[in-house]
Amino acid sequence: MSNFKRVLVTSALPYANGPIHIGHLAGVYVPSDIYTRYLRLKGTDVISICGSDEHGVPITLKARKEGITPQEVVDRYHALNKKAFADFGIAFDIYSRTSNAVHHQTASDFFRKLYDSGRFIEKTSKQYYDEEAACFLADRYITGTCPHCANENAYGDQCEKCGTSLNPTDLINPKSAISGSKPVLRETLHWFLPLDSYEPWLRQWILEEHKEWKTNVYGQCKSWIDQGLQPRAVSRDLDWGVPVPVEGAEGKVLYVWFDAPIGYISATRELTPDWEKYWKDPETRMIHFIGKDNIVFHCIIFPAMLRAEGSYILPDNVPANEFLNLENDKISTSRNWAVWLHEYLVDFPGKQDVLRYALTSSMPETKDNDFTWKEFQARNNNELVAILGNFVNRTLVLTSNYYDGIVPATGRVDDYDREVLEAIPSYRAATETALEGFRFREALKEAMNLARLGNKYLADTEPWKLIKTDPERVKTIINVSLQITASLSMLMEPFIPFSMEKLRGWLNTGKAVWDDAGRNDLMKPGHKVHNPGLLFGKIEDEEIERQIARLMETKKQNEAATAVVQPEKPQVSFDDFTKSDLRIATILGAEKVPKTNKLMKLTIDTGLDIRTIVSGIAEHYTPDQLAGKQVSVITNLAPRTIKGIESHGMVLLAEEPGGRLVFVVPEQKTGNGNVIK
Ligand code: 2FM
Ligand code: ZN
Repeated sequence: MSNFKRVLVTSALPYANGPIHIGHLAGVYVPSDIYTRYLRLKGTDVISICGSDEHGVPITLKARKEGITPQEVVDRYHALNKKAFADFGIAFDIYSRTSNAVHHQTASDFFRKLYDSGRFIEKTSKQYYDEEAACFLADRYITGTCPHCANENAYGDQCEKCGTSLNPTDLINPKSAISGSKPVLRETLHWFLPLDSYEPWLRQWILEEHKEWKTNVYGQCKSWIDQGLQPRAVSRDLDWGVPVPVEGAEGKVLYVWFDAPIGYISATRELTPDWEKYWKDPETRMIHFIGKDNIVFHCIIFPAMLRAEGSYILPDNVPANEFLNLENDKISTSRNWAVWLHEYLVDFPGKQDVLRYALTSSMPETKDNDFTWKEFQARNNNELVAILGNFVNRTLVLTSNYYDGIVPATGRVDDYDREVLEAIPSYRAATETALEGFRFREALKEAMNLARLGNKYLADTEPWKLIKTDPERVKTIINVSLQITASLSMLMEPFIPFSMEKLRGWLNTGKAVWDDAGRNDLMKPGHKVHNPGLLFGKIEDEEIERQIARLMETKKQNEAATAVVQPEKPQVSFDDFTKSDLRIATILGAEKVPKTNKLMKLTIDTGLDIRTIVSGIAEHYTPDQLAGKQVSVITNLAPRTIKGIESHGMVLLAEEPGGRLVFVVPEQKTGNGNVIK
């Protein structure tokens, strides 16, 4: 920090085409918020910038699917996401949006400056065009058969079935997603940023001058640069976005990844007339918080754009995180495999800090990581409740019981008390070092170690036992515990701001100041503290089981939706078919076959006779649900002995894609023994 006067923190602008989930929080917004809050507590001049990324093809596709305008899509999610961030205490100085006028102007001017100074190359290439809809087709608007796996619904940029990335011209039988017609190749003009010419500079700037960047970030940059950079198109044929500000460019907009990072600049302009000091003064330190899928854009393309423009500073660090999984599966919006922030708050009202804490503890800093509800519960019950909450509660209860809530002056001071007091500043130092290195998990652990120290101190000194025999020592113990509590209210603030604000209210102290944490005179004798309740509440098993059950239900639905129809069997002759004797029958009674999960022994009236059939339906029906049910059976199968029971025939069942079995039943009640033909 030493050479910088101020810090500009940016957090990836999330697309306004879906709600925010825990993966977004853990990857980008919790770390950026912790960092910003820490700097604010340090008194650093810092601003935190974010907003909605409102352009790009997925937004237009969603609008088309729902029969609304792209503006309506982004209005909906911008409002939802802005509120979700605010609800979770992600304290941006501004949450702007890229569909607003300031941004359009800023992005347009930026492009124009590069255009006027000859920074782009213009190139004509052939792209798919929909003659019926009279427009060029973005890669996502073209579907067709994947040349690798024969999936008929592959997109022009990727086959989601086999994961291969594709070019639109790779698709077999390409089809326009707009009109369904077969697209034709047509020439179109676009502007390209010649990244190849920035390669020597990027190599020097990143690989030589920023060796301190996180290994995952540095490694990705190195691999991009080593593979050789290619010119990148910065425009698209589309009608949603910032229009290309060049004559003759009608129907063309800036590529979303060209305009989105400029959104950081636009948002700063919107925030303050003094915006240039954050963007143009080399004494500003810019930090981009992003997820790993954004590394190339923030470390290579945007810096090349900024360098081409010439008047802006470059990021000093880009502490990108890896991805968070949920219960061992990739988080996915389309499969609804996520914990959505707005839904979490319905189920766990007021527990924003618990999620922030759990997500920081399992933040995917160096590798992908997994969020599980069980771990979430354990973090709350075993750490927030049992360590931090317990220590704070014991301290405040004892202060209230022994001294009516008035901070006692230290009495007799033992070596142990002195040792503990002297140790407190080291926790601030350790937390700070980790935060400065963007190691948020470690920082949280270091701050929590102070609560651990406090707990151990109380457990070792047992003031509740000493109060009768050594009241002078107890005054010291409570005083020291209150000093620890006050330090904790500052050190933990960046991580769990809601609870720490509450705690400072109870401690009756003012604003948190980072550098005060560790002092031994934060709570002055005579000062009054309050003890209105518990800082954290236990989370019960049932609450967690409900969340897990919901996810299991989602999984089942997804499996059913993606299951393929089983292939047809080889042909049989009509004569062969008529050899099977298919009839209507009624189940008279049913009992589970002992020591099996699936088998049920059915007593069946076939109209010909009463017989026994063993059927594999016990996981899907109870005996009660079966008696009296009319079903279809094949009667002339050769008898088979199953688990010692002779089975005469088979009940017809349809198997659903998820594996559930349902009976094939007559449309209305009919006579047993009636033949199915
Ligand atoms: O990956 C994303 O969600 C992008 N919308 C991030 C954009 S970051 C910045 F460039 F705006
Ligand atoms: Zn494929």
